[in-house]
Amino acid sequence: MDRLTALLLTLIASGCLPVAYSVCIAAMGMACVLENLNMLTDGLQTLRQIQPTVFYSIQVRMLRLPNNPSGAFLIRAAEFVDKLEIMVFREPEFHILAGTNLSALSVFEAKFLKRLLIGDGDIALKELSVYSCLLDRIPGTIGNLPLLTDLSFYRCAMRNVSLNAFRKNQRLKSLDLSYNEIDTIVPINAADGNVTLAIEYLYLASNRLQNLDMTAFEGLPNLSMLDLQYNNLVKIAADRTITWANMEMFDVSNNQLSTLDFQWLSAPKLKRLIMNNNLLELLPQRLRRFPNLQLIAVSYNKFVGIDLAPLNGLPMLNSLDVSSNPTCRYIRSSRPVRLPMLDTLYAEFCALNRFNTTGIDLPVVSFISLAHNNFSTIPTLGQTFPSIVSFSLFNNPLPCALLNARAELILSGKLILGPPQDASDCPTGSTTIAPSFRLCCKA
Ligand SMILES: *[C@@H]1O[C@H](CO)[C@@H](O)[C@H](O)[C@H]1NC(C)=O
Ligand SMILES: *[C@@H]1O[C@H](CO)[C@@H](O)[C@H](O)[C@H]1NC(C)=O
Ligand SMILES: *[C@@H]1O[C@H](CO)[C@@H](O)[C@H](O)[C@H]1NC(C)=O
Ligand SMILES: *[C@@H]1O[C@H](CO)[C@@H](O)[C@H](O)[C@H]1NC(C)=O
Ligand SMILES: *[C@@H]1O[C@H](CO)[C@@H](O)[C@H](O)[C@H]1NC(C)=O
Ligand SMILES: *[C@@H]1O[C@H](CO)[C@@H](O)[C@H](O)[C@H]1NC(C)=O
Repeated sequence: MDRLTALLLTLIASGCLPVAYSVCIAAMGMACVLENLNMLTDGLQTLRQIQPTVFYSIQVRMLRLPNNPSGAFLIRAAEFVDKLEIMVFREPEFHILAGTNLSALSVFEAKFLKRLLIGDGDIALKELSVYSCLLDRIPGTIGNLPLLTDLSFYRCAMRNVSLNAFRKNQRLKSLDLSYNEIDTIVPINAADGNVTLAIEYLYLASNRLQNLDMTAFEGLPNLSMLDLQYNNLVKIAADRTITWANMEMFDVSNNQLSTLDFQWLSAPKLKRLIMNNNLLELLPQRLRRFPNLQLIAVSYNKFVGIDLAPLNGLPMLNSLDVSSNPTCRYIRSSRPVRLPMLDTLYAEFCALNRFNTTGIDLPVVSFISLAHNNFSTIPTLGQTFPSIVSFSLFNNPLPCALLNARAELILSGKLILGPPQDASDCPTGSTTIAPSFRLCCKA
């Protein structure tokens, strides 16, 4: 029998439901909306009359069942659909029984859910997501889902997570544990038999991690993306080298890191390193361990100046963002630095007044933004970097006389100072560099 793709249930199990046969109200996305579905009376008959060739999914606004809308109900629902979404679930226990032939199951708003029990044997489930629940640990029976590829426990109450719990989920590729209360990640150790997991995408954002011993992730050789945003991280380190041969993106934004040393990490394919909104005063040392880095972002930190020297030896670096460091006054390099692929440099919303280009070689750079800074002179970027197409000094305290003298540079489009302005928008003065082309400046 053909099955529809999805069944979306909003369970508001109360009150007396009409017994009459409900009919599909057609909705967007070829959905059949049923106001009521009463499995105690004509529910099955109703489901059987819905044609998979006409509808793509079923949405049930109110479902009436003899018992917990999990377990046996899922097996029955799987006769009609391949994916099931339960919008509101009010029971403390959720059961997935052996023989449940669903490929994807999502349970949203499971505010009372404390236990998830998964039967042993023949469950086809590949994707499982539970949102807003009270689960405080990874269910011990999660290993009964050997085909699972994607798992989320999002906004639940997890605290102490052991990756060893997933040793039987050998196909698990994506694990999302964002918005929990995780403060401890128990590593897989030799006593567990050196288990390795296939996980490639690991989301641990918005938890309570503070001092993270990265050896916790040693058993994940295929990790390609690690999201550690919005924790309380003050330190990340490991006492031995962790090798992630496929790591491409590492995000530690929105933490409390004041230093970062990547001595412990071997990640030859790392492309994006995101460290925004921390307490960094310097670019991390040893970035050369990541020869494929394309993007480095360190906005919203505590830099007092940017020294580009640590970036030397990054042949693929394409984009650098150091914006929104409000105490940052200069860009320079303490040693010669060559960035053969750097295309864009963003250094907006700082207090920059100096860009010393000595020793900085950017052969292909095309755009540099120094908007919203404190420059009173125009750095010689156009001459130093012949490849540059344009650079922005929008909203800097440049003297009006300087703008008049460099009108050609502005009119050619190379120096960007924003669109023409009105004198009333310019608190410190303005000048007209061409007919009806007025710009703010410092009188
Ligand atoms: C499970 O569903 C698939 C279709 O998604 C079907 O091909 C298969 O036969 C079903 N398995 C069982 C045991 O019903
Ligand atoms: C975390 O759980 C493990 C068992 O899974 C236990 O050995 C460890 O002591 C727990 N750690 C904390 C901080 O609760
Ligand atoms: C785990 O790996 C270590 C080093 O790779 C090895 O010495 C040890 O025997 C292994 N343990 C098991 C249980 O396989
Ligand atoms: C990592 O990926 C490779 C290639 O896809 C695969 O052969 C290997 O089994 C994976 N490792 C683990 C621990 O799953
Ligand atoms: C620019 O930087 C170089 C090298 O660090 C230094 O020798 C020079 O004095 C600097 N120039 C200015 C004007 O600060
Ligand atoms: C901008 O530079 C001027 C001197 O040119 C200085 O007085 C002022 O404090 C600077 N502003 C910031 C935010 O650093």
